[in-house]
Amino acid sequence: MNHANITEILNKYQGDESSLIAILQDIQEEYSYLPREALVQVSKEMNVPLSRVLSLATFFRAFSLKPKGKHSVHVCLGTACHVRGAQRVLEKFERELGLKSGETSEDLLFSLDAVRCLGCCGLAPVVQVGEEVHGKITPAKVTGVIKKYRK
Ligand code: FES
Repeated sequence: MNHANITEILNKYQGDESSLIAILQDIQEEYSYLPREALVQVSKEMNVPLSRVLSLATFFRAFSLKPKGKHSVHVCLGTACHVRGAQRVLEKFERELGLKSGETSEDLLFSLDAVRCLGCCGLAPVVQVGEEVHGKITPAKVTGVIKKYRK
């Protein structure tokens, strides 16, 4: 981890505690998760207890304390997707990737998460990989979707 990057982010906000969330967002953008060392550095340099930094980092679902994969796979289990078989789609992803929901592959290529409503229920069941939305997904289509991102 490059400490200079964290210092740069902290300097941008001039150590202002009210910017703590914005600082965590910037760190997550830089590393795609919140490395513990970074949180310790934030706590020290801003003079904010580590417990406070950690409670913010765990409160917001957008933050992750574990490394995320290059491709983050979100399988929607909202009502519309659920009634159209999303659970089976999730199970197929779990089998194909060898991951449970909430986990990241060792090669850091994929993370898998179940989420609630991605806001495009007309396309149910929906899976989002990074910024890309895949609609009307069936278990049979899962292998093809993964293959696309393995390259
Ligand atoms: S329930 Fe899945 S997109 Fe809305």
